[in-house]
Amino acid sequence: MIEIVGKRGRDMDRRKFLLTAATGIASASLLGRSLAAEGSRSVADIATAADPMALQDSGATGPLREFRLVAGQGETEVAPDEVYRNWMYNGQFPGPEIRVKEGERLRIIVENQMPEGTTVHWHGVPVPNAMDGVPGLTQEPIAPGESFVYEFEATPAGSYIYHSHVGLQIDRGLIGPLVIEEATPHVAYDRDYVLVLDDYFPGDPQPLGGMGGRGGMMGRMMGGGMMGMGRQMPPYEGLLIGGRLPDDPRVFETKRGERVRLRLINPSGATTVRAAIGGHRMSVTHCDGRPVEPVTVDSLVLGAAERYDVIVEAANPGVWPIVIAAIEGNAPPGRAVLRYADAAASALRDGVPEGFSGGRQLYYQDLQALETLPAGRPDRVFDLMLRGGMMGSAWTINGQAYPNADPLMINKGERIRFRMSNHSMMLHPMHLHGHFFRVGDALKDTVLVAAHMGRAEFDFVADNPGRWFFHCHNIYHMEAGMAREVRYA
Ligand code: C2O
Ligand code: CU
Repeated sequence: MIEIVGKRGRDMDRRKFLLTAATGIASASLLGRSLAAEGSRSVADIATAADPMALQDSGATGPLREFRLVAGQGETEVAPDEVYRNWMYNGQFPGPEIRVKEGERLRIIVENQMPEGTTVHWHGVPVPNAMDGVPGLTQEPIAPGESFVYEFEATPAGSYIYHSHVGLQIDRGLIGPLVIEEATPHVAYDRDYVLVLDDYFPGDPQPLGGMGGRGGMMGRMMGGGMMGMGRQMPPYEGLLIGGRLPDDPRVFETKRGERVRLRLINPSGATTVRAAIGGHRMSVTHCDGRPVEPVTVDSLVLGAAERYDVIVEAANPGVWPIVIAAIEGNAPPGRAVLRYADAAASALRDGVPEGFSGGRQLYYQDLQALETLPAGRPDRVFDLMLRGGMMGSAWTINGQAYPNADPLMINKGERIRFRMSNHSMMLHPMHLHGHFFRVGDALKDTVLVAAHMGRAEFDFVADNPGRWFFHCHNIYHMEAGMAREVRYA
């Protein structure tokens, strides 16, 4: 059990001190630009605002948006009588929604009030390398009691995730949604909701596979799944939507005739889910944040870190379940509710949405980007074999387990192709930092490689120099070595 460091009063003093320090960093990063000129309040003003744990938005409509994220101990109810105590952002789980407009400049002051180091990664946003939040690659972890200022341009528009990139901190609760709104969406809608999907692990996650870890022991005892699977997934107790177990679901309101945009984002530690809504189809409009030609389906699959935006036409009044079910592992399903105005909550139509038993499922081949895709023959091709999971061993790429692994060397301006083949019994959601890549006719930043000899490939243009992480977004696989550095020569 982790304790909040110090007492309230002392905490406040320390906070003031840290923010003074942060002010220094922030000013330095301004390179002479004036805060006042941009219509923003200063960091110091934000520091003295009334609720120190609130997500503090400078409120400016100008190009600079400033937020403060405090990573520290928090507690929240995930169901009636089920209190989740863990590390979270600003005492909220999932972390507060950060929502800005495309082209604004984002400055986020991250303050670490936990007893171990942390970083924040802006998953999917092609930020400058130094702002990418990867420990040991782009920055040192933010030490306990210290702050770090991230600053980058909020572009392109999309639904993103922010999360810790240290160890297994994602499964402690250090996740949140980041929405960059487009100036002119290619689809019309009346409401815009973010649904954060997550696997629920109360406590302190441990590496899997080894003999010592609690997760490993419990996994073995729980058994289930196929051979070896029990200990390859943490013993998740359920799936959450918006931080709630199905007993006390989040309710999303609508009215007949509306079009509802749902931003489904999956910052799970390890779980790939299928999602479907009772009584409604979904028109998929964005994939990993990027606009696609709308395609209507009954269900879709989201690997860890994948996102889809969908539009639901509210034409079937009632109270309907939004259900997610795990594709790997034993976590029971998660649920939220889509409720039409005037419908009584008790009218919830329980049961399994049609999308789980049939109907059209979304495949990557269905996705057609609305923007120009990298095309042409690749200058450089990497064949990457994904392996591991046998007898609690490492997870590897071409036999090497990060950090004892060679960087994948590329040159600026090249067209690069990654061809992955999965020689293991588990799915791997593979993510490349700092770039969007082309999968089929879509742009993505994370791609699922199916188990049992599944294959996937993607192309990208080397246009964002730096040292970038490429890894499986199952954090237990990442921690056990399924990662590489992609380095510009
Ligand atoms: Cu979602 Cu390496 O990150
Ligand atoms: Cu994996």
